Amino acid sequence: MSIESPIWPSKLDHLRLNSDDPAMLADFYADTFGYQASPMPDGTVLLQGPDRRLVVGPGKPGERPYHGFCVQDRQQLQDIRDFVQGQGVNTEPSPSAIFEGDAVAVRDPDGWLNVFGMPRRDLPSHKAVNTPSAVKLSGRLQHVVVATDNLARMMSFYEDVLGYVPSDYCSADVDDPATRKVAFYRSDPEHHSFAVFSASEVGSDHHAYEASSWNDIRDWADHMSSRHIKLWWGPGRHGPGNNLFFMIQDPHGNQVEISAELEIMPREMAPRVWPLEERSLNLWGPGWIRD
Ligand SMILES: [Fe+2]
Repeated sequence: MSIESPIWPSKLDHLRLNSDDPAMLADFYADTFGYQASPMPDGTVLLQGPDRRLVVGPGKPGERPYHGFCVQDRQQLQDIRDFVQGQGVNTEPSPSAIFEGDAVAVRDPDGWLNVFGMPRRDLPSHKAVNTPSAVKLSGRLQHVVVATDNLARMMSFYEDVLGYVPSDYCSADVDDPATRKVAFYRSDPEHHSFAVFSASEVGSDHHAYEASSWNDIRDWADHMSSRHIKLWWGPGRHGPGNNLFFMIQDPHGNQVEISAELEIMPREMAPRVWPLEERSLNLWGPGWIRD
């Protein structure tokens, strides 16, 4: 099924984070992850940096109202609309002020809204920065991850309905697909643009920025130190994806990852299976086992 999906190729372009104090959260991300803030007409704040953007808006801390995936052209967008609707799945109006109005929004079984679209051509401009600053650090918004209490239902939706390509699974028993606990999905040759972890309840898990090298991870960690922000997990190297990483937490407890060396997998490569254990999640040290 997935080999024919018009979702391929698409890339994570932006996502929205909610806060009961949006100005505080926007300031945190601007300072910590190198963004310049622009107010949007709908009352949200657009945060833009090199190859990365976020929307921060009012709401409950921890909410992520939508994930925006950028497509190549209008034909691909129409193909996605036809593909999804052809399977009897409703599309919704796009809530994204970043994408053009014809973006296609699809809600998954846990309620996460995936928006596929093309960026508007009249987004606010921001100034070039030539002095040392987090805005100069390399980090392309690259993947977003959720937690679910019904992994089988989520896997079925992402693989069979949207047609994301599975890259790796983690299973309690590697020989038994019924014991899968984590699924990593790609929508272009990068190992994952989306992943889902089995947990006790539905929730956001983390989002990640892909830096250009290990030295960038050092520079990001030094930057975090300058802000007295402790690394929450890592540095380490994930098994699935083979990427170097560390994570921090934002003021609402959202995990945010800086990554590098994410594996490249052509579309035709079959998924692999890892045992669900600390070593799979971090080849170098302690794992983060979701509850
Ligand atoms: Fe990640």
